[in-house]
Amino acid sequence: VRPFSRDEATAFVRAQTALAATPLLPEIRLHLATEITPLWQATEAELAVSGLPPPYWAFAWVGGQALARHVLDRPELVRGKRVLDFAAGSGVTGIAAALAGAARVEASELDPLALAALALNAAANGVTIAATGDDLTAEAPKDWDVVLAGDVCYERPMAERVVPWLRRAAAQGALVLLGDPGRAYLPKEGLVEQARYTVPTTRELEDRDSREVTIHRLLAA
Ligand SMILES: C[S@@+](CC[C@H](N)C(=O)[O-])C[C@H]1O[C@@H](n2cnc3c(N)ncnc32)[C@H](O)[C@@H]1O
Repeated sequence: VRPFSRDEATAFVRAQTALAATPLLPEIRLHLATEITPLWQATEAELAVSGLPPPYWAFAWVGGQALARHVLDRPELVRGKRVLDFAAGSGVTGIAAALAGAARVEASELDPLALAALALNAAANGVTIAATGDDLTAEAPKDWDVVLAGDVCYERPMAERVVPWLRRAAAQGALVLLGDPGRAYLPKEGLVEQARYTVPTTRELEDRDSREVTIHRLLAA
């Protein structure tokens, strides 16, 4: 994979997306793709690299959208708090936390294109997010008050790494909330349901027009 600059990444995100809101979140505008396949191909062709991850950042996943709705509707969960949006993608959930009055929002994302999209999206909504490209699961969780993780249980290796780390954050006292539509690697235990949302989506992404998403509190064990 050829390295590319942040300016190239930003230009790519701008060229491949349009600023739009999803039906569930009219108050948040994001740089979003309208159809998955052309963007996916463009990601590889335009940057002349192969083996790039799919452009998860160009869609607001149903889990992250529901979590964003949850904190916008219950701002007391994050108001005045230090919040992490883990595996933030477009940053939709972290943006919601910032709009809801979080004192500080951090975000983590491994994909450099997602980091470029997240920066554009934060600016488009007039909020500040401190984003890192480091894999935070390599270290002990910091002292966040709230950790938000939208749609992180869709792949086994990722979930096996991420869920124990999120449980450590919970053990350290953080409120850890998952937004998940019943992905394959969602843990079966140590979850407490908080709310449910019906999230409009597209057949390209989810094979149906809407999905039921549950907000779970993840317990330490
Ligand atoms: C399905 S997307 C969800 C994005 C966003 N939370 C949402 O709901 O729209 C999952 C994202 O997790 C990111 N990711 C995977 N492992 C990660 C890790 N260890 N740290 C940070 N991000 C990670 C991927 O790059 C991808 O963008």
